[in-house]
Amino acid sequence: MRVLVIGSGAREHALVLALAHDPAVVALACAPGNAGTAALAESYGVDVASPASVADLAAEWQADLVVVGPEVPLVAGAADAVRARGIACFGPSAAAARIEGSKAFAKDVMAAAGVPTAHSEIVDNPARLDAALRRFGPTWVVKDDGLAAGKGVAVTSDLAAARAHAMTLLEDGHPVLLETFLDGPEASLFCLVDGTTVVPLMPAQDFKRVGDGDAGPNTGGMGAYAPLPWAPAGLVDEVVAKIIHPVAAELSARGTPFSGLLYAGLALTSTGPQVIEFNCRFGDPETQVVLSLLRTPVAGLLHATATGSLSSHPALEWSDGFAVTVVIAAEGYPGRVRSGDVITGAETDGILHAGTRRREDGAIVSAGGRVLSVVGTGATLPEARDEAYHKVSTVHLPGSHHRNDIAERASHGEIAVV
Ligand code: AMP
Ligand code: GLY
Repeated sequence: MRVLVIGSGAREHALVLALAHDPAVVALACAPGNAGTAALAESYGVDVASPASVADLAAEWQADLVVVGPEVPLVAGAADAVRARGIACFGPSAAAARIEGSKAFAKDVMAAAGVPTAHSEIVDNPARLDAALRRFGPTWVVKDDGLAAGKGVAVTSDLAAARAHAMTLLEDGHPVLLETFLDGPEASLFCLVDGTTVVPLMPAQDFKRVGDGDAGPNTGGMGAYAPLPWAPAGLVDEVVAKIIHPVAAELSARGTPFSGLLYAGLALTSTGPQVIEFNCRFGDPETQVVLSLLRTPVAGLLHATATGSLSSHPALEWSDGFAVTVVIAAEGYPGRVRSGDVITGAETDGILHAGTRRREDGAIVSAGGRVLSVVGTGATLPEARDEAYHKVSTVHLPGSHHRNDIAERASHGEIAVV
């Protein structure tokens, strides 16, 4: 199978690494990729936001399977364009990708499917904002209705800050979504969905805030671990039955079946799992830990998803133990970042690349906000954590920062669903 991966983050490096180990893969390419994927796969330039550009590359390269990593090409219709050329594509149509592309659409689907989620209201007129804010709180959740790379959300107990965030979004012409606050630990569950059949992967936990102890602004994700030693027994089955199956059935009933990876971002509240958000693709950085534990070859699995044959795919096999990833971010992230700094120590097993590129003189330099995703594995969560942080200590990137508390509370048994 000739497999083309679209994207340039550590998620795509993790996908490329897993595909490179799969004997069914005879040729592998990644576009646009990074310095890490370039060591394992052919690299091509592509405008990921242009469905025609993605489909042209897939056809010219004679791909048998295209795996689309990020949400931007999916929401723009890359999977539709690739399938229109007769090539199998892992990733939903633009119509189904709206589950991530519009929070209002996701809420509508969840209401129709009876899926538990926060109560919400859309505000698109500043004159209605104050009255709407009075119906929420005292912890306010204010979101950008569209794609915001995880950065469009404010969760705050300060009404003035909630109002200011909403006004900034409205002034930029973005409708605002207000939500009730969901309490409880968060979990991410990735499910392969081929329209009807659902195959869950392993639940993971992501760290969205930039600083230790969840301080500072939201980011794309600063670290993750899997599996969740504190997860209630039966969590995966419950989420699949109450959330994933009903949503897949609702999207099929609307004539826009979901094919690809449906990612449920969950709050595990005292009254059961509730949906915080859906994503229409693998999560980053959770993919880096989940795929490091998956033993089933991925090319056949993703191809079965893309072609509607998941029901005849053998059960997944997993390694025992745990995985932890720590993201090393460039100076300034999640704001304006510095790039072009030389990175040393990044060419080690388990160090996945995101914003990196190889300079003409051979040096690897930073080229983005999240630069590396360092993965450690171990028989226990503390061992996986120690390995990840040991590897982090061997990397040098001027001005970089990372969280020091990824998987710390879970390692000490401090997380519980009440
Ligand atoms: P989102 O972009 O919707 O995933 O939101 C980013 C982060 O904001 C989530 O991972 C949560 O930590 C937090 N968040 C979003 N919605 C809520 C909510 N209704 N209640 C509590 N926290 C939330
Ligand atoms: N880990 C969060 C995301 O992929 O959206």
